[in-house]
This record gives sequence, structure tokens and C-alpha cells, in this order.
Amino acid sequence: MYIPVILGSVREGRRSIDPAKLMVERIKAMGHESVLVDFKEMPLPFFDSAVVPVAMKGVYPNENAQKWSGIALKADAFVLVVSEYNHGYSAVLKNALDWLYMEFSKKPFGMVGVSDGKFGAMRAMEQLRSVIENFGAFAIREVVPFGPVQDAFDQSGKLIDESYNKKIEGLLTNLVEFAGAMKPIRPNLN
Ligand SMILES: Cc1cc2nc3c(=O)[nH]c(=O)nc-3n(C[C@H](O)[C@H](O)[C@H](O)COP(=O)(O)O)c2cc1C
Repeated sequence: MYIPVILGSVREGRRSIDPAKLMVERIKAMGHESVLVDFKEMPLPFFDSAVVPVAMKGVYPNENAQKWSGIALKADAFVLVVSEYNHGYSAVLKNALDWLYMEFSKKPFGMVGVSDGKFGAMRAMEQLRSVIENFGAFAIREVVPFGPVQDAFDQSGKLIDESYNKKIEGLLTNLVEFAGAMKPIRPNLN
């Protein structure tokens, strides 16, 4: 399975980089392929096209949007790393999702929340479910709410709170299971 990890924050000092790297590591440790999709390295403009993504048919007016499409097209499932901003998800993450459409069709999404409070971005992740549904995709039930994120990782980015391990395993096991189950019904866009 190919399971990219989508990082939803581009701010200086973002804490979600640690959970994002950890998820890439854990996906690979399960024997799957992954990549960190970082919009700080691959910036996308705010969606400004007159043509809506579904009508672009895989050809985008921006090099990074084209790259993002290539990654998403190849993906069997996604892990979204969701930082909570004002009880919602970040504009960066929503903008990245808005750039594509068919690439997500009939694929499962797993969500990892990041906040400095104890709710671990649960509010933002719940709001994202309805966005994901609009792609004809599916957000699995299991989530990993990293909160407070600063207590979960040390300064070097290493996970220090081992209680997260079981939740990560549960999320990835279910994500892979749904990816396998949904693969036969996926549209062939390649
Ligand atoms: C603009 C902004 C709004 C925030 N709003 C919330 C919030 O509503 N609830 C919360 O728990 N944390 C909130 N926080 C704290 C973030 O969840 C915390 O800084 C987290 O580390 C953000 O992820 P990042 O570091 O990857 O950007 C906010 C942070 C920012 C920058």
C-alpha cells in the first residue's frame, strides 16, 4: 500500500512535523510505502482557478498542484495531520484538499490531530469528516489526537508518551484494511 502523510501546517516551529514524521516511519515499519507531503516544501497557491478541479481532468495550472495530484493519484489511503486552529482545521490543509477531487475518490483517510490543548484537535478532525465525504471518500473512525502535543514528543522529535503506540497501530491497521477493501471499487484514473 502507498499511504502518503499530509502535513497541514506550514508555520515556523510547527509541532505537527513530529507526529507527521512518526506516522511516515510507522507506515514504513508495517511494510508499506509512504511519503511526507509538506506544503512548506511544495507550496500551493490559494485555489484561484476558474476551472473547478473535477473539470481539470488531472491537468493542473500549477507545477506543485500537478505533483500533489501525482502523489494523491498513486495513494491507496491517506493520513492527514490536522493541526487545530480556532476550533477548526488549517486553511493550508483545506486549500490542499480543494486543489484535487477525483484523486481521493473511494479511498480511506486516517486522521491524526495536533493541538497544544488536551482535546488533540478532535473538533477539527470531526469537521473534516464532512469535507472528506464530499470526495466520495471515507474517514475511518479511529483517530490519534496528539494533545497536548508538547507532552507527547521530546525536543528532538522523539515520541516519549508510549500510550500513543496502541492508538497509532489501531489507526494504521484499520486504514490498511479499508484501503484493501475499497481498492476494487476505485475508479481507474491512471
Ligand atoms: C492560529 C492558531 C489558532 C489556534 N487555535 C487553537 C484552538 O482553537 N484549539 C486548540 O486546542 N489549539 C489551538 N491552537 C494551538 C495549536 O493547536 C498548536 O499551536 C498546534 O501546535 C498547532 O499545530 P502546528 O504547530 O503544527 O501548527 C491554535 C494555534 C494557532 C497558531
